[in-house]
Amino acid sequence: FTPKVLEGKRVLITGGPTFEAIDPVRGITNLSSGKQAAAIAKAARNAGAEVTLVSGAVSARIPHGVRLIGVTGAQDMKSAVLQEAAHQHPDIFISVAAVCDFRVENPSAKKIKKEDSTETLTLTLVKNPDILQETAKSGLCRVCVGFAAESEDLVENGMKKLQKKGADLIVANHSSAIGQDSNRAYFITKAGAEALEEMSKEELAQRIILEASNILSQKTHE
Ligand code: C5P
Repeated sequence: FTPKVLEGKRVLITGGPTFEAIDPVRGITNLSSGKQAAAIAKAARNAGAEVTLVSGAVSARIPHGVRLIGVTGAQDMKSAVLQEAAHQHPDIFISVAAVCDFRVENPSAKKIKKEDSTETLTLTLVKNPDILQETAKSGLCRVCVGFAAESEDLVENGMKKLQKKGADLIVANHSSAIGQDSNRAYFITKAGAEALEEMSKEELAQRIILEASNILSQKTHE
């Protein structure tokens, strides 16, 4: 049960992994399942919002009534997010995607054949843009929420991320939550850190929606 706290509001979410091409049939990606983003999209929809999910390829089911924009690499994801943000001026942006930190500098237009290669193959990687940071700094979304998957010092690293990225809320969780059904997290805002108990990704999604909607109301009344 989620109260209709987001009736008439727009929520933009990123989810899943990005896939950075090496050649037409291969690439670099990660194990993000897209479950947490799908759960958040559903919770936002149930709260009455109009929801757009920009997602890399995932096996998680996309909730009914959620508009899906499928993307591949981090650069496609960034373009789609900024285009949607400029178009819809979302009330809430939630960056759940596991964006690959690096992409291949010059992907090959043709399949790389091992017969044509020597014993080693060197790929040059370049840093991907930080989509959350750029979106937050663009000022196109009222409230920006990010995740921080950390293996240690969750609160301290989450605080740093909140500041650096210009987010209003960071959900810091243990990196081992990736692909799992449950999650134990901290809500980190400029007011401090709140430790949440272990809960399912569905429950956490509802808590995130409530917290983001509270931040939205605070900002509206500032
Ligand atoms: O810096 P780090 O990857 O730990 O930050 C995680 C948060 O930033 C997540 O909300 C993720 O969706 C977002 N992110 C992003 N673009 C990147 C890297 C991370 O939007 N290139």
